[in-house]
Amino acid sequence: MKVTLSLIKADVGGYPGHSSVHPMLKEKAAEMLENAKNNGLLIDYRVVGVGDDLQLIMTHKFGEDNEKIHKLAWDTFKEATEIAKKLKLYGAGQDLLKDAFSGNVRGLGPGIAEMSFEERKGEPVVAFMMDKTEPGAFNLPIFRMFADPFNTPGLVIDPTMHDGFLFEVWDIMEHKRVMIKSPEELYDLLALIGAKSRYVIKRVFPSERHPKIPKSEPVAVISTEKLYQIAGEYVGKDDPVALVRSQSGLPALGEVLEPFSFPHLVSGWMRGSHNGPIMPVGLKDAKCTRFDGPPRVVALGFQLSEGKLVGPVDLFDDPAFDNARKMANEIADYMRRHGPFEPHRLPLEDMEYTTLPKVMEKLKNRFEKI
Ligand code: F6R
Ligand code: MG
Ligand code: MG
Repeated sequence: MKVTLSLIKADVGGYPGHSSVHPMLKEKAAEMLENAKNNGLLIDYRVVGVGDDLQLIMTHKFGEDNEKIHKLAWDTFKEATEIAKKLKLYGAGQDLLKDAFSGNVRGLGPGIAEMSFEERKGEPVVAFMMDKTEPGAFNLPIFRMFADPFNTPGLVIDPTMHDGFLFEVWDIMEHKRVMIKSPEELYDLLALIGAKSRYVIKRVFPSERHPKIPKSEPVAVISTEKLYQIAGEYVGKDDPVALVRSQSGLPALGEVLEPFSFPHLVSGWMRGSHNGPIMPVGLKDAKCTRFDGPPRVVALGFQLSEGKLVGPVDLFDDPAFDNARKMANEIADYMRRHGPFEPHRLPLEDMEYTTLPKVMEKLKNRFEKI
């Protein structure tokens, strides 16, 4: 059976500040999605909050970019915004940047990761949700899962993975994309995706010789919306999400999770203007506190059964990730001691997309020639 998995998220109000999602917003969203399930639009759904982002995990039969599904997500965020306004939650409606739904939520503010595929006999999927960072934060872990044999021994040991994977990389400044084959073009791939504020992995496909999965079916997809490009000014970071399929000729569940044992540096955190470690956490710890962070990532694991979401298992709620969390806290201490200095603070090019230009404007006329 062909199923579509849609993960659509938005920050429609934080509580308190930008730290978490109020339970009433989640209740409202669950009520709306339950109705859609009863009306046959959705097969199944889950609603969670990660940091200040309301996350809708949905399965259905209507394919990607479907108007009815996107309208459902949009209306759900709108209804949740009404509650956020009543409670005077912080930044109510923050990510609903444009008020003109016309068939699709792309470009309106919410982040979207969607993929359609033929459900296999056993179909494990992981929904990753990050807060206080940007889409490029997924470059390193997705690269490790699908292209790094030091992370994923399956690339060496499992003959079905020997032909590697195809990466769809987007230039999110110039709005262009390029397909790059791993391992043949590994260094070209790294040359781009190492520049994570500009080049982001959008999708991963199996190689055309993959014996089990058609080459047209994505095996991973990442949301790549850039809020500042939609709004024309800084309105917060993009807080990306991703969906990753696993096992039987794809990275095993443990290979999908392994990259997060290293809390790599990502940009975002306080005021979307700082580099800091990404901390893998369970849902109970998915709130951004210290210095509005540190940036967090949650991983929810499911088995699909005729489109039903069997799960989730809260995968980072596990002592095996204690060391990563400890390391993230140590890195957070170290980075914080730089105060407003780079490389804790982002480089000037990236600050262009924050509120800093307004400060620079003030000094503009006081510069003298030297
Ligand atoms: C980061 C984020 C927060 C805010 C910060 C200031 O993505 O959302 O760190 O940037 O709390 O928020 P305002 O300007 O709304 O007071
Ligand atoms: Mg917010
Ligand atoms: Mg957020």
